[in-house]
Parts: sequence; structure tokens; C-alpha cells
Amino acid sequence: MSAATLNPSQRASQQRSDGLEGAIDRDPAAFRMLSGDRPTGALHVGHYFGSLQNRVRLQDAGVELFVLIADYQAMTDRVVQRDLPDIVTGLMADYLAVGIDPDRAVIFAHSQVAPLNQLLLPFLSLVSVAEIARNPTVKDEVAAAGLATVSGLMFTYPVHQAADILFCHANLVPVGMDQLPHLEISRTVARRFNDRYSPGAPYFPEPAALLSSAPLLLGLDGQKMSKSRHNTIPLRATPDETARLLARAKTDSERSVTYEPIRRPEVASLLLLTALCQGTTPEAVAAQIGDRGAAALKATAIEAVNDRFAPIRARQNELAGDPGYLHGVLAAGNERATAIADDTMRAVRDLMHQRY
Ligand code: TRP
Repeated sequence: MSAATLNPSQRASQQRSDGLEGAIDRDPAAFRMLSGDRPTGALHVGHYFGSLQNRVRLQDAGVELFVLIADYQAMTDRVVQRDLPDIVTGLMADYLAVGIDPDRAVIFAHSQVAPLNQLLLPFLSLVSVAEIARNPTVKDEVAAAGLATVSGLMFTYPVHQAADILFCHANLVPVGMDQLPHLEISRTVARRFNDRYSPGAPYFPEPAALLSSAPLLLGLDGQKMSKSRHNTIPLRATPDETARLLARAKTDSERSVTYEPIRRPEVASLLLLTALCQGTTPEAVAAQIGDRGAAALKATAIEAVNDRFAPIRARQNELAGDPGYLHGVLAAGNERATAIADDTMRAVRDLMHQRY
């Protein structure tokens, strides 16, 4: 997003975020990053270039990484609850295959960390119903889910998210611009808790947003890429599946392939995907294809995706064959997260004079 299209609050967030990269370079160990995904299905190439790659980069630079499997949030995504165990196991294989290090990162699930969820109650007391109702991200998510009514759980997502972040004192949250209003609520909760219960010695950090610099990939139908729209290329797709998916990607009828994101968004997204896979620029890919048209573009994209993800897919496949190992990694993460959340709840009870 160019600076001109940002509102003042987004611009302030962008400036804070730019400054953070330097601070992380200088002292990565001062940062604990929390990121999360809803377990609704396989992770896809949009997740990879938009988020996963960045998590692994920061982890490898020495930032402590917490990864949340947001299974209480996934309840409103029309996930069949019975499918959750398989989805979560697949997600674990995806995470480890892309390079999240099970020895360093803490991977855990909402439903397995009771004291994290308890933190939601004192946090709910710190925000008003009107404040949540104003949150544009909540409005968007309700609209995207196509629900006629909003459950209390969905309505309180941003506050639950504050608990997700603050239970482990995370001070860094990688987000897209669309998630900024959520993070603003986390910052507000931290500030109000500190003002009310630990004035002078802030107990919770105000988490900072690390804005993704990754350009947005569109789904195969030209809409936003998302699991629920079935327009993604899953990381774990086979080469044949990848070819079939990309063959039906939307393009246009112009013979000459050019990179024009505004006028030709679908073609631009395929060029971008190819460029990201090949480590080049979309303009260079377009020049290479020239007048050979959409068929040549798709063939190039298919080869680029398959080459780029071959090693990740091989690892994913191997890991998926050992669910016992994956469950062990998740169990260890749940245990570690629970121990941390217990400590936090103990401190919170003390600060709130709830020690009887
Ligand atoms: N809301 C995020 C999503 O839709 C998932 C999520 C839940 C999350 N809790 C979080 C992200 C805390 C960052 C921090 O993908």
C-alpha cells in the first residue's frame, strides 16, 4: 500500500513498524512475537509469502516465536468440528515444513490453554460494547462469514485476541493493515489494565504491529485468496494439483502479458506469484513472456510454484506421515503456554486483589 492511501492512524502504525525492523536487527532477543492462524484447512501460498516466510525469517534472526492455533476463532468459519483434529495435524506439518523450529517456537492451541482463556474475563471489563461494535475488523469478519447473527464469541474476538497476545507478554505482532484495529484494542486493554491495576509499573507491554511488506496475492478467481473461497493453492498441493488449479486461474484476453496491477489484477497476481517463487520481479516475468499470452504465463507459474515448493512439500509429506511426532510438538507447546499463562493469571489475580 502506498503512503498516499493510508489514513493518519495507519501512517503512524507504518512508521512505528518501519522503526521496529531496525530495533529487531539490533536486539532480536528483546522481542517475543505472537502470530496466529485459524485452523480452517491447509495453509496456502498466500499465507507463505504474506506471513509464514516472515515468521521464519524473524525466528531465524533470534526473535522468540509463539504460534497460536486459534481454534476458538475457527468455530465461526463453518469448520466441521469433527474435522479439527486432522486440520490441526496438517497445520502442524505445514508449520514445521516451512521452517518453524519446534525446538525454539511455542506452538499451541486456544482450547488447550485454560488460563489464557480466563484472562479474557478481566480484559472484557476494560472495554465497552460500543468500542467493540465500532471495530471495523469485526464488521468485516462478520460480513465475510456471511452470518445473519453475531455470536457473543465472535463479537468479543478482539478482546480474546488481546488475551492471546498478552498472556505471554508478546510485544510484537505481525499483521496486515486489515488487522490493525484488532491490535489497537490489545494495546488499549494493556494500557487500561496497567493504569487501573499496576500504575507506575506497567505489567503488560503494549504490543507493536509489525506490518507485512508482502504484496497481496489474489486467489485463482481474482478475489481475495482465502481457504473458505476455495481459490487457493495449498502449500501441500502436488505438482499435478498445482497445474490443475493454476490452469483454471482467471486471466484476461489480451495477448501481451504486462504487469498492470490496477488494470489487469488477475494477470498481475500470477506474475507476482511467479516472481515471488523465482526471486525476481513481476515486470521481469512479464517481459520474459511477452506476447506468448496467458497460456505461457500459466505454464511458467506452474513450473515456478512447483520448483519453489518442492522441498517444503517433501518435508510436509514426511512430517504428515508421523502424526505422533506432530502431536508431541503441539503437546509440548500447549504445556509451555499453559505454564506461562498460569504465571500471568497468578500475577493478574495479585494485581486485582483477588488472592483469597
Ligand atoms: N485473527 C487472526 C486471523 O484471523 C488469528 C488470530 C487469533 C491472531 N488471535 C491472534 C493473530 C492474535 C494475531 C494475534 O488470522
